[in-house]
Amino acid sequence: MSLQDRLGQRTAAVNGAGVLTERIASINEASGAASQPVSAVPVSAIQYGRRSTRRAYDPLAAVRKRVHQALLEQLGPQLYDTVSDDAELERRVRDTLPEVLAKEEANLTAADRATAYRQILDEILGHGPIEPLLRDSEITEIMVNAWDRIYVERFGRIHAVDATFMDETHLRRVIDKIVSRVGRRVDESSPMVDARLPDGSRVNAVVPPISVDGAALTIRKFSAEPFGVEDLIRFGTMSERVAEVLRACVQGRLDVLISGGTGSGKTTLLNVVSSFLPSDERIITIEDSAELRLAQEHVLRLEYRPPNIEGRGEVTIRDLVRNALRMRPDRIVVGEVRDGAALDMLQAMNTGHDGSLTTVHANSPRDSLARLETMVLMAGMDLPVRAIREQVASAVDIVVQLTRLRDGTRRITQITEVTGMEGDVVTMQDLFTFDFRAGQDQYGRHQGALVSTGLRPRFLDQLADHGISLPLETFGRGM
Ligand SMILES: Nc1ncnc2c1ncn2[C@@H]1O[C@H](COP(=O)(O)OP(=O)(O)O)[C@@H](O)[C@H]1O
Ligand SMILES: [Mg+2]
Repeated sequence: MSLQDRLGQRTAAVNGAGVLTERIASINEASGAASQPVSAVPVSAIQYGRRSTRRAYDPLAAVRKRVHQALLEQLGPQLYDTVSDDAELERRVRDTLPEVLAKEEANLTAADRATAYRQILDEILGHGPIEPLLRDSEITEIMVNAWDRIYVERFGRIHAVDATFMDETHLRRVIDKIVSRVGRRVDESSPMVDARLPDGSRVNAVVPPISVDGAALTIRKFSAEPFGVEDLIRFGTMSERVAEVLRACVQGRLDVLISGGTGSGKTTLLNVVSSFLPSDERIITIEDSAELRLAQEHVLRLEYRPPNIEGRGEVTIRDLVRNALRMRPDRIVVGEVRDGAALDMLQAMNTGHDGSLTTVHANSPRDSLARLETMVLMAGMDLPVRAIREQVASAVDIVVQLTRLRDGTRRITQITEVTGMEGDVVTMQDLFTFDFRAGQDQYGRHQGALVSTGLRPRFLDQLADHGISLPLETFGRGM
């Protein structure tokens, strides 16, 4: 990647000096805007029909501007000539910045100096105002609704943050920097783009004209340590007992379908459930973007490839499922089934690849099977509905339903066994359901838990075949 890109300056430049002048100009412009009194409405706010109400006065803006400029003057040409990788750029900036900052005459406290240092590094090497949010491990999601409207999710709840970009141009520069790193671009002709940060966090950016009020950016952070079984138990997503049931189901080679809405924790639960897979089995994972992190040794990871700019070269989830079957898998884990891939997935589950795991976007176990049915139809084969339902009924053994509750927690709200067919209808029985009647406490937190319905699962026989038994009281009523 070129230096312009790394500095967030994508304008074609005639020479190094040109780039720097342009960049400094844009920084000056932007910092100027940031230090304006709150009452002054920035041009971009008028343009995008938004009121700028949340912008706080930033006393360090002027210092940042001067130091930034001095730094670029000192390092610029040298950087432009020789630096070819980010690590080298970072080293040079880190070496030079303290020196430049020390020359700054403003009366800075040690704390201000440290803040300015951090902010300048973030601006040059990172992603500006969202860099501290990316570093904050409590934050799971960053949502930039507009350059001056940034929200984060902490512990399942959404909060506004004070940080803002300097203006629309600044936000666009950071978006460009993120997407160009993965060889994509975002502009009027391709206004939506998915990308990934080097740490694995998933990024979606939309810009006008699709996004009516200016660019928007959504980052689903990749936690350094994925959640494990203990974490989900601690969060109340499931109890220890339910974890044991799921472990038994996976080890007993049941086909498990995890169902839930967007952000309900499907991928996270899939990762946890996959950790129950025996380590001597050959596991193939298939995903839209590789998020799963399995600890087993024998894991092969396949990832969807989007079409290139000319619309060619796409490798679909369906292609990957088919290919996986030729790779002698013991287990297939599919990140999320969608479209025609469902047909191949069901066939795999029905032809000796028992114990496959996958997720589907649906709001209830019943709905998840209906979704599978619809997706099989999308494969374009002219199959009678009854035949499809038979496939579904014999492929899926249990459905684990996840829900993101109003109190911000993500919980398993249903575990349902698929028992067979009656006439044209797939029959199911709930084994565990969430007790919503327990109500909420004064903070709105649900007091209920996932409780057993008292029905004895039919899959116990299959588990027994694999030498797995669960204590009888596991499925005792109301447990
Ligand atoms: N059980 C859970 N409790 C709390 N937070 C969770 C839980 N599962 C997932 N999360 C967080 O919720 C976000 C969405 O999780 P993810 O598994 O990617 O959802 P999905 O695959 O359903 O879209 C992530 O930031 C993740 O860290
Ligand atoms: Mg997911």
